[in-house]
Amino acid sequence: MTLRTLLLATAASAVGLPALADVNVYTTRQPGLIQPVIDAFTAQTGIAVNLAFVEEGLVERLVAEGDRSPADLVMTVDIANLHQIVEAGVTQPVASEVLEAAIPENLRGPDGLWFALTQRARILYASKERVAEGEVTTYEDLADPKWQGRICTRPGTHNYNLALLAAVIAHHGEDYARTWAEGVKANLAKTPEGNDRGQVRSIWAGECDVSLGNTYYMGQMVEDPEQKEWAESVRIEFPTFEETGGTHINVSGVAMTKAAPNREEALQLMEFLVSPEAQAIYAEENHEYPVVAGTELSDLVASWGELTPDTIDLTELAGHRAEALRIMEEVNFDG
Ligand SMILES: [Fe+2]
Repeated sequence: MTLRTLLLATAASAVGLPALADVNVYTTRQPGLIQPVIDAFTAQTGIAVNLAFVEEGLVERLVAEGDRSPADLVMTVDIANLHQIVEAGVTQPVASEVLEAAIPENLRGPDGLWFALTQRARILYASKERVAEGEVTTYEDLADPKWQGRICTRPGTHNYNLALLAAVIAHHGEDYARTWAEGVKANLAKTPEGNDRGQVRSIWAGECDVSLGNTYYMGQMVEDPEQKEWAESVRIEFPTFEETGGTHINVSGVAMTKAAPNREEALQLMEFLVSPEAQAIYAEENHEYPVVAGTELSDLVASWGELTPDTIDLTELAGHRAEALRIMEEVNFDG
């Protein structure tokens, strides 16, 4: 307990009010990304927050704890993980005019079962030397034979690529998506392996010319002495879906657990997280994009160019995940 919360608790009990309860958060995110925004919340409200970093088995843990779970909120990344928590029945709907006004409808779950807090775009890292400006503008184009032997990506069965393929399905249907996945596979410079930054390293090493990756990795690479060179060999291109869409985005988000012993305080934290102050802090920590319109971008993120996010409903993408996985396996994308 900080001095401030101690004083507030003391003041509350002196006038016969109940002391403010702590909020308990289970998070799969690195604590360093979350702590700054949590500290800002505690400073403003006097409500203490206990962060439990749960790297593996978050859903299983919530299911096992059931009604006795001490967790009020869950903070995680990727629509697949948010959807999995909801499907497991361990979250509760939250009705909040603040959250509904702040977060676009396509970035929150039905009935307030989850809310996006930040967005990340899945973009192309393009070799400054070997890819001309304007040479790649759409996702569809990646299946064109002109990219033969020039594309790198992490495995197609990774959640990030499954969400992207789910978006292809949402825009063009399953048959097109299968042909697209086959086309991209035919253009790969090497078997998919490693993470998004590893692909940029491959571009730096001359093994390929473009790679799929999330935007925030650019921020992570420029902050890393070894990876800075990789980052400097590429620029970010924001592909869009032809005709009907923008750049594919995924999110980090929050959901209230079904058990939530400290519901009122937890809701206060959720609403704080969409305040301009919190949005700026939280997005900047991992070089992400805020979800609340009008929040200023960090200078670094702004320097990458203009993002026009695809506006497809993320719940629809979650619904196409199984088809996307089946397609990746059928075309043996990672083989
Ligand atoms: Fe990531």
